[in-house]
Amino acid sequence: MHDPSDTTAWTAARSAAEGSQPAPHPAGTMTAEDWSSTRSVTPIPPSPYENEEQRRTLVGSLPSVDESTPLAFEVAENARRRISLVGRPFPAPPHTRILTVANQKGGVGKTTTTVNVAAAMAQAGLNVLVLDIDPQGNASTALGIDHHADIPSLYDVVVEDAPLADVIQQCPDVPNLWCAPATIDLAGAEIELVSMVAREMRLQKSLDSYLDERYANALPQIDYIFIDCPPSLSLLTINAFVAATEVFIPIQCEYYALEGLSQLLKHIELIRGHLNPRLHVSTILLTMYDGRTRLSSQVAEEVRTHFSEVVVKTSVPRSVRISEAPSHSQTVMTYDPGSSGALSYLEAAREVAEQVLRWAPPAEQEERE
Ligand SMILES: Nc1ncnc2c1ncn2[C@@H]1O[C@H](COP(=O)(O)OP(=O)(O)OP(=O)(O)O)[C@@H](O)[C@H]1O
Ligand SMILES: [Mg+2]
Repeated sequence: MHDPSDTTAWTAARSAAEGSQPAPHPAGTMTAEDWSSTRSVTPIPPSPYENEEQRRTLVGSLPSVDESTPLAFEVAENARRRISLVGRPFPAPPHTRILTVANQKGGVGKTTTTVNVAAAMAQAGLNVLVLDIDPQGNASTALGIDHHADIPSLYDVVVEDAPLADVIQQCPDVPNLWCAPATIDLAGAEIELVSMVAREMRLQKSLDSYLDERYANALPQIDYIFIDCPPSLSLLTINAFVAATEVFIPIQCEYYALEGLSQLLKHIELIRGHLNPRLHVSTILLTMYDGRTRLSSQVAEEVRTHFSEVVVKTSVPRSVRISEAPSHSQTVMTYDPGSSGALSYLEAAREVAEQVLRWAPPAEQEERE
């Protein structure tokens, strides 16, 4: 395990994480309604509850169960979350948030986090786009998007200069959710990019043109863009870091989880210094958490100690339903929305969306500058 007494890397890492955090709202009183009223929000499915009072009454009426009976505790906890979360709109950000989901360690839950947080946000009424820049194409699969070799993909965008709009597909199960797929061609993109001019900025350029074009045509704002990265610090990942403003790091609650994290954070610091000064780590999510093991709790505690304010309070448990969903070309949000895995991702997604409530409104930011 990472030596907690070795604070040098963590201190550098923390300053990278905190570097350009949006200023918190001074009064901290902006509500979801305040933000949402500043734009038109895509209608979401009607809430199963008549009003907030009814939700609160129902949650209050749940019998209290302590952790000494784990199964009953989980059932009660799931019921509480379902009543509190389902059908509730998320606040829309004042501008498009672009998050790169990255960790050079493989199998930590990058793709699972990308597709489930994206789906949860789309189900809560936000417009969400997933860019699958990993040649494995796992995010495309989980979103039910065609990505065989002949399908136009991010390869065409990054290497062939195709417009991003030409490769984007609508996710079949979730309205408001779109995906630019990856095909196996992307595996060769690394080599082809090496000799290209401004090879690190190619994704950013096409994303900027796409967003500008939408704005010029008065199309609805894309609220969130998530970029699912491959498990490496390759040119494709660098393109993702340059295109984004925020880094979202999933950390698996396992022994080796923290190894390589300081390398990732140093890498982000380099990108910030040379290519993208606005880039910062805004979000860390603990995945595959197993509350029964001491190791999981130790990793979680260590991460929370060092990165307190950017770590999402909800951690995602290990869940069979989460791992089954991609084999049905679905996210767990549609495959089994009532499962504890889906509810955790829904709760985590709400926390990420509500980060904007701590930002200063644009007028106050201007005044301060
Ligand atoms: N909370 C979870 N519970 C159970 N299984 C999970 C969970 N999160 C992810 N998995 C499984 O772990 C494996 C790795 O997850 P995932 O593909 O999301 O990681 P990744 O970081 O994107 O991997 P790669 O680095 O290869 O891109 C997958 O089989 C996935 O289904
Ligand atoms: Mg992946």
